[in-house]
Amino acid sequence: SRQKRVVMGNWKMNGSLSSNSELIAGIAQRMSQIGGATDVAVCVPFPYLSQAADLLKDSGVSWGAQDVSARESGAYTGEVSAPMLAEFGCRWVLVGHSERRSLHGESDAEVADKAAAALSKGITPVVCVGESLEERDAGQVQAVIERQLKPVLALGDDAVARLVIAYEPVWAIGTGRSATPEQAQEVHAFVRGLLPAGAKGIPLLYGGSVKPDNAQVLFGMQDIDGALVGGASLVSKDFMAIAEHG
Ligand code: G3H
Repeated sequence: SRQKRVVMGNWKMNGSLSSNSELIAGIAQRMSQIGGATDVAVCVPFPYLSQAADLLKDSGVSWGAQDVSARESGAYTGEVSAPMLAEFGCRWVLVGHSERRSLHGESDAEVADKAAAALSKGITPVVCVGESLEERDAGQVQAVIERQLKPVLALGDDAVARLVIAYEPVWAIGTGRSATPEQAQEVHAFVRGLLPAGAKGIPLLYGGSVKPDNAQVLFGMQDIDGALVGGASLVSKDFMAIAEHG
């Protein structure tokens, strides 16, 4: 049984108190047109969680963070824990975004530990996976996705049933070159096939240059349950046009 469609914005390292409040106002204002058919969410930089919680609390839009520590507390300078995110009402947290993997060397095992830390506080991890162009050209897409998901799947069936997985081919992120609906569907079906019986219905999101003009056809594919949106999530009209296609 498939869950609600999820359209999630990832603001990455963008925004300010004033631009965020404008963006959130635009999102909240357009929420009435969505009519509850789609879960709309934004993942904001840590310093703005309090602002997001305050401005979104009665809007029907949920919020989350872009990373979380695998540890609960202690001498980990610069890290932010799942208990801290829970205090700010985070419903979601991205783990293993390709920018974290490539710029911060996050391993597959660490990504799984982060997902477990989030789950332990009732926060839904959005586990991001995806191949580089070199890996695609070398015919390694499935091998890469399987390797990335292996420690996550090892968290156990109950944990996996509470995840969201986002497929984001690295070559489609921020490039304006989305995967074709067929390319995305092929990987989503493969990911679905890796899931244990009790977790087949978890949301599988596509990310990588999702825009208002390609969202509808992507969402029409059988195993694409929503989107993780970067650039277009910074413009409320575009972000909500994507959500309305749900
Ligand atoms: O998390 C979002 C993705 O990295 C996609 O970013 O929509 O700017 O391509 P993009």
